[in-house]
Order: sequence, then structure tokens, then C-alpha cells
Amino acid sequence: MRQRRFEGKAALVTGGGTGLGRAMAEAFAREGAAVCVVGRRQEKLDETVAAIEAAGGRAIGLAGDVRDAARVEAIMRETAERLGGIDVLVNNAAGNFICPSERLSYNGFKSVVDIVLLGTFNCTRAAFESLRERKGRILNIIAAYAWHGEPGAVHSASAKAGVLAMTRTLAAEWGRYGIRCNAIAPGPIHTEGTDSNLWSVANVEELVRAQIPLGRLGEPDDVARAALWLCSDDASWVSGAVLAVDGAHHLHGGTLNFREAYDAFVGGMRSAP
Ligand code: COA
Repeated sequence: MRQRRFEGKAALVTGGGTGLGRAMAEAFAREGAAVCVVGRRQEKLDETVAAIEAAGGRAIGLAGDVRDAARVEAIMRETAERLGGIDVLVNNAAGNFICPSERLSYNGFKSVVDIVLLGTFNCTRAAFESLRERKGRILNIIAAYAWHGEPGAVHSASAKAGVLAMTRTLAAEWGRYGIRCNAIAPGPIHTEGTDSNLWSVANVEELVRAQIPLGRLGEPDDVARAALWLCSDDASWVSGAVLAVDGAHHLHGGTLNFREAYDAFVGGMRSAP
């Protein structure tokens, strides 16, 4: 029988209109949470809401850009009013593209850092009162390259490393309020976005799969089930933790074939010095 660990609770998932965010939103709803999905495109949010409702769950979709602090505050207020509070905040919204650092524009770097790092702070700061009232949980979606770096993603790696520091800082600072703050570092997974942008490029999928000790790429649900656990009472004394959900990719992914994979990504560039 399916567990209902989030009955009577509300979860807000940023970037919940597509991919991993949508999978997590649906997973929280399946376990009883009322869910708010946030993202830039209302039509994508509506699709997630419709899927949750069709499965018997409850959801709302509020459009906004996490970089816009005023809009984020309004979204948190409306969510608390309509869903009764916020028990779980999942900071999943991100922006990313592969670009050699020497070609990355200043604004390209800033855009990704603003979405990932500033956006995570905006949402977390704006949700604080609700989270304090409900002894809430924050889950930040980072990436293993916050630890080991990622050729071609200096903007994202820098921002995710900042979110990792934020996770640990808030676990220490807000523990006094009963707020838990953790992170998941997902490995390479199949989503609509990665299937069309990454895994379809040359032999990149094959190269990456060869780096994963468990021998396969992940599916969104692999990550969603870990997210449920970390945000549930089953993890009641877990805070400040980073859980790699990646088939052990982080243990070898940065060292095997990375030049080959990088070159395949950027297409025909000179090998890194
Ligand atoms: N390669 C190099 N530079 C890029 C780029 C790419 N693929 N995509 C965007 N940029 C640069 C732009 O040229 C611009 O810099 P400039 O003003 O110096 O030209 C800057 O990034 C901002 O781009 P813009 O599209 O105006 O920004 P945005 O704020 O609307 O969106 C992203 C930024 C990162 C979200 C955008 O690239 C995007 O929509 N990506 C696809 C969706 C995505 O990232 N999903 C999440 C996956 S984790």
C-alpha cells in the first residue's frame, strides 16, 4: 500500500512545470500533500496541476520568475493563504547551458547565478515565516559538480556550490526553529530537456553511462523518491546533508572520459589545455 507521509501538508516546488520538478511535485501529491508549482510558463504549470488533479491530488500553479523577489513574496503569501501554509519548500528551479568559460558572456554567467543562487535565496527567505510556523523542510536541488566542478558549466557549478553553502548555513542557523535544510545532488537523468539538449548530442549519453557504476542514467522518479524521504519524518534528524542520487556517478564521473564528453558536448572545440 502506498504511504501517505504528507497528508495535511503543503509543498511548494519551484521549476515544477517540467522535468524533475514536475516529478517531485507529482510524488508529493501522491503522498497526500497539497502542492504549489512555480515556474515561468503558466501553461507548463497548468499541465502539472492537471496531472496531479487527474490522479486525485490537489495542486495550484503560480507563475513567476524566482529572480523577482517581489513576485516570489507574493507567491509565498498566496500559497500560504490557499494551501494553509508551507511545510516543504523544494528549490529546484534552475537555468543551465553548456558553454566553454572563455566564450561565456558576463550576462550569461549572471543569468544562471541569478536563477540558481539568488532565486534559491529569494524563495527560501520569502517562505521563512511559513516554514518557521510549521517546522518546515527545505530541499535544495544541487549537483555533484558543486564539489568537483564541471567543464562547460562554470556558471551553474559556481551557483550550485553557493546553494550547497546556503544549505549548510541554514541547517545550522534555522535548526533552532525546527527547520531542516538538506540538498540532493542528482546525477545524469533522463528528462524531456536533457533528452533533447544533452543525451541526443553525438555519443554523449554512451560516454556518460560508462561513468556510472550502477550502469544506467537516472529517471526523475529515482530522485523524487529520495526527495520524499528527505522531506518526510523518516528523515527527522537529517539536516545539513547532501544526498547524491546518481548511481555513484560522483565517485568517478569527474575523472573518466571527461575531456571526451566535454568535447562531444561543445562540438569540435579544441581539447582543454
Ligand atoms: N550559450 C551561451 N550563452 C547563452 C546560452 C547558450 N546556450 N543561453 C543563454 N546565453 C546567454 C545569452 O546570450 C545572454 O547573454 P548576453 O546578454 O550576453 O547575450 C544570457 O545568457 C541570458 O540569456 P537570456 O536567454 O536572455 O536569459 P534568460 O534569463 O531568459 O534565461 C536561461 C537564461 C539560462 C534560463 C536560458 O538559457 C534558458 O532558458 N535555458 C533553457 C532552460 C533551462 O536552462 N532549463 C533548466 C535546465 S537545468
